[in-house]
Order: sequence, then C-alpha cells, then structure tokens
Amino acid sequence: MSSTFPHGFLWGASTAPHQIEGNNINSDWWFREQHTPGMALSGDAVDSYHRFEEDMRLLADAGLNAYRFGIEWARIEPIPGHFSKAELAHYRRMIETAQRLGLTPVVTLQHFSTPKWFADEGGWLHDRSIERFQSYVGEAAAILGDVPWICTINEPNMLAMIGTMMKLAEAGTSDWQSPTVEGDTQMVLPAPDPEVGQRLAAAHHAAREILRSKTDAAVGWTVANQALTAKPENQAKLVEERYLREDLYLEAARGDGFIGVQAYSTQEIDANGPVPHAPSPENTQVGTAYRPDSLGMAVRHSWEVTEGVPALITENGIATADDTRRIDYTAQALHALASAMDDGVEVAGYLHWSALDNYEWGHWEPTFGLIAVDRETFERQPKPSLAWLGNVAKTGTVEGGARAFGGEH
Ligand code: BGC
Repeated sequence: MSSTFPHGFLWGASTAPHQIEGNNINSDWWFREQHTPGMALSGDAVDSYHRFEEDMRLLADAGLNAYRFGIEWARIEPIPGHFSKAELAHYRRMIETAQRLGLTPVVTLQHFSTPKWFADEGGWLHDRSIERFQSYVGEAAAILGDVPWICTINEPNMLAMIGTMMKLAEAGTSDWQSPTVEGDTQMVLPAPDPEVGQRLAAAHHAAREILRSKTDAAVGWTVANQALTAKPENQAKLVEERYLREDLYLEAARGDGFIGVQAYSTQEIDANGPVPHAPSPENTQVGTAYRPDSLGMAVRHSWEVTEGVPALITENGIATADDTRRIDYTAQALHALASAMDDGVEVAGYLHWSALDNYEWGHWEPTFGLIAVDRETFERQPKPSLAWLGNVAKTGTVEGGARAFGGEH
C-alpha cells in the first residue's frame, strides 16, 4: 500500500511545556503532583526548557519541517498581572530557533496547566477567567507576530473533564486517575462539565480576536477526537455523548483558521455511555485499543461538524515500548488520513505525538516519543520511528503498514 501527500504539507512532532520542560513550579499541576497520592512528580521532566535547541535539531535533521510546542502561562505570568520579560524572551528564542532550523512553529498557548494562582482564584469558572486569559494572550501576542499557526487551548474537552475528575477526587468519591491513562481500572472517563466547556469556548473566541488583530496566524484550538461509534440500537445515545464529549468543542471551532485534530483510538457508546476498552494484548500502554484508523474517522467527523474548517493533525501517536509497532501504527494512520483527504477533507499537516518520551500527566511509564530520553543524564536517543517519519516527510509518501487491524480499511 502507498499513499502520497501534497507538496507543502507540514510534517512534524508535538510537545507540551509541562510534560517536557521541567520545574514548572508556578503551575497548578506542580502543586497537584505533590499533594496527590499515587501521582508521579514531573520534576526536571526531560529538561527541554534548557535543551530545546537539541530537540528541534533532532527533528529537523531527520527531515521534519514543523514543530508544535507550547508556551507556559505559569512561567510567563507567575503572579497575576506580572509578566516576565525574560520568559517571553525565552519563548521568542524558541520560535526563532525553530525558524532558523527550518521548522514551522505551531505554538500552543495553554496545554492543561495554568498558573497556580489562576486555579486558586477559581479556575475557568471564576468570573474573571476570560479577562485573565485575555490579558495573558495579549502579552504573549507580542512574541507571536510571525508564527503561522497558533493553538489557543489544547483539548478543551479534556480540560473540562479534568475539572470533573478533580471535583470527584477532592470530594473523596473517586481516587486520583490520570485523564490520559486508563490503567488497569477499566475506568470510563466522566463527561466533561459543559459549563466549563462553554466558558472555554468563550475564552477561545476572546483569544482568537486578540490574535487576529495582533498576528497573521491561523488561529484554532485542538480537540481530543474520540472517534466514537454506537453499539447497535444506541445511535441516539451516541449523538448525546458526542455532543457533550466533543461536538460542543468542534462547533465552537466554526469560523476558526483551522481545527487541531488529536486522535489516538476509538470508543464505543452503549446505553450507559462509553464502553471501557476490552482488555487485549493489542491494547496500548495507556489501555486504549490499537486503532490507527481512528485518525481517519476523527478528521472526517471534525470536517463535518466544523462545517469545513481545514484540519491540522496536531496529535496522533501510540504509547508503546515497541518502536516497530509505532511505525506500523503511524503508517496505517497516515493511510487513513490520505483516504479522507482523497474524499475532500482539507488537511494542512501531520504532527506526531510526541517528539520525546515525556511526563504523561501523573505517570512516566507510557512512552509516546520518537526520541527516548535518559532521565538521569537527559541524553536523547532517537528511535527508528523518527528517521522513518523524517523519510515520509522528505518523500511525501508512506509505504506499507498494511497489517490487518480491527477497523474499516
Ligand atoms: C494530550 C497530551 C497527552 C497525549 C497522550 C493528549 O490528550 O494533549 O498532553 O500526553 O494526549 O495521552
């Protein structure tokens, strides 16, 4: 099997500041990690705060032409209203380093973590949350003038769900559970809180307005696309769950410059909601089913609900210790993406999650990276999948990966 992608397609990898930088000490997550039993500390993470140039160089040398990274609100505004010029300069250096190395920067403004003071004040549901976010975005815009792609908020649907999970954990009705790791518990993720969802949509629209006036960027947000399907007789329940879990967020992207599509696996819906992934040796390290076809399903669904907003694949990947499997998964995901594009879905690029093995929100075990990192020495070790993806970028062609899997294809 062979699929070809257009000239000018963006090929890259994605990261998030809290997961790779280290010592994000003014953030809500840093505090949470210290006070939640069972949660691993992010600590030095993989010290990308200091090693970003090396990380970018590895991607560029492999043949990739784009890098998605985030700027960290908690560093830029450690105290309400006090903006750090040094941290803004740091992120400006990152943007310029990417440009110098031939990597198109795709910059995320908020990726799960917020300043701790923002969380203490009441978080996204507090009266001043939008004003607070606008003020941060306004300051950040000063370094983003020539950035072509800006993601305002990463996975607002997961963010709204994290809020629900925190409330359950604080009320003692549930133990801490990472939002992105299903583990052995066969946990079904609770529905995102729609009130938080609406607030995030308003924050996104407010940020979009500022960024449109101060930058030339295509502005969008990135949604966790879950490729939901109905068990027989459960079509109405699917529509209801889909709205709560993702369509509310896709509808809010209508009129955006792009929609960030993030897909990893699929999930079935029955009368009670999402059905836990059945245990299987094929499942990934985070407990999800091996479904590379989810990317095609997700991008088609996003295209439909956003009413034709062009997609940028801002995350897709697999938690596995077996890098051959990562290549296999990615090849199949890209074939599914090419097939959606053949059917008319507009896609600007593919950014793999993740550039580096990193801190997976409370855990260190799942490895999503194209590059391994020794956490004692911080030495980077590119995996064969990095060279493989770089070669796809250079040739615009994906060969193979036609191994049978439980999806439509
Ligand atoms: C998030 C990432 C996370 C990844 C893998 C997405 O939910 O944006 O931060 O590491 O999925 O679980």
